[in-house]
Amino acid sequence: MLSRIIPVSSGKGGVGKTTVATNVALSLSRYAPTILVDLDTGTSSVRNTIGAPVNRDLYHFFRKGYRLSECVTTLPDSVDPRGIFKDFGFVAGPLHLIDEITNFNHEKKRLLSQAINELPATYVILDLKAGLDNNVIDFLPYSNSGLLVFTPHLPSATLAASDIVKAILFRKLRIVFSPMSPFYDRIPEPFKAIRLINELLDRVEDVYDPILPNLDAFLLDLATSLGPHPIIEKLSQTIEFFRVYFVLNLFNGVSEVYDTAIKPFVENIITNVSERLILTNLGWIVKSNEVHQGNCHRQPILMKAARPPKPPDSATQGIDLLIRQTIGLPQEKQRNPAVSPLARRPDPDKALTAQLDVLQKMYHRRPGEADDPRDNFEYITSRIIYLLKSSRISEFGMPAICSPEEILRAFFPDPPEPFKPVRADYFG
Ligand SMILES: Nc1ncnc2c1ncn2[C@@H]1O[C@H](COP(=O)(O)OP(=O)(O)OP(=O)(O)O)[C@@H](O)[C@H]1O
Ligand SMILES: [Mg+2]
Repeated sequence: MLSRIIPVSSGKGGVGKTTVATNVALSLSRYAPTILVDLDTGTSSVRNTIGAPVNRDLYHFFRKGYRLSECVTTLPDSVDPRGIFKDFGFVAGPLHLIDEITNFNHEKKRLLSQAINELPATYVILDLKAGLDNNVIDFLPYSNSGLLVFTPHLPSATLAASDIVKAILFRKLRIVFSPMSPFYDRIPEPFKAIRLINELLDRVEDVYDPILPNLDAFLLDLATSLGPHPIIEKLSQTIEFFRVYFVLNLFNGVSEVYDTAIKPFVENIITNVSERLILTNLGWIVKSNEVHQGNCHRQPILMKAARPPKPPDSATQGIDLLIRQTIGLPQEKQRNPAVSPLARRPDPDKALTAQLDVLQKMYHRRPGEADDPRDNFEYITSRIIYLLKSSRISEFGMPAICSPEEILRAFFPDPPEPFKPVRADYFG
């Protein structure tokens, strides 16, 4: 199977990113080789969560010339006596705060991305920093959100998570409308048009500007000024095919989670990004002292009383049935090319009702009787494996971390002439 990089991000800190990334990586490793990479390099949180001795970490990669695959730590017998996690490994952040490794420059980011792309694993999980700077955004896919974590206990983090979605889409649009884009040569008066489009994007990005609240309004505006243009259809597709996935940590009940996390998340996305995005809830983790104690004692909950893997196919069979019978798969939109995508107006209330409906169904059909966090992680893992098996490559995670040039190339697969190089400092 093609390897897949799955970043875990949250916008704000303290919501359980490292807990989710670590346990999901451990769980996935029971099915295929998995490497967890600690990109929250200022806190070295992964090495503090897993009690395995680290011989090499990102310091050795950046400063001592080791390959990244030589900086992977596996679990010794003392930590994993039954060998359940023999296919799990992690790349730890540096032991001490080293500024150049914590705040990558463009060159370091490129080196690290390439090395991550070459890691010998089926699943690569990235534990990202909190925040929304380029150290986070540049490690995210461009056609989906990766795994977003938020919690009803920290409302500001919920809004930050929806801002990640906005940031990913804006990064892509800025690249598509940069002077390096082949689009530049295809329009009359390109300099003026590109400046205009970037000004429009600035206004959408500015949440205090009421005229252009979101990307739907931006597209309508663009359609009015450019007239019928293939770029409009392509941009509509970028939004319609974009997928958002989230996991709720510290679950405290269906109505609480809906009111304090899901509803604000969905509303913020609809208001500030687009009404057209497909948002998928991949499950939740209950608040549990066992989870917290596991982290504190450097033995993640899944390592304690670890469950052996199920036969590979049975991992997803139950979920397959569960999804088909209850949750339903996001319907692939029936696209009618005769109807402009801008004319199709989704209903925001329907999106909210659908989220509540899915949450209730997931809750009533949950596989384990008591809410054991191990069952929660098992469920999320099965959903991920199922997703990877059943969806298009662009829908979840990414086969490789892409540079701006590669994002351009994916957007314009048949450029009329070779791409101009994107200036190294253009995107930070
Ligand atoms: N489901 C849970 N039940 C109980 N405690 C939890 C749960 N998830 C996380 N915690 C605790 O919450 C705290 C924050 O978790 P974690 O370190 O995973 O968050 P984070 O988002 O990675 O934070 P940071 O931004 O600082 O990296 C930790 O003390 C952790 O043990
Ligand atoms: Mg963390």
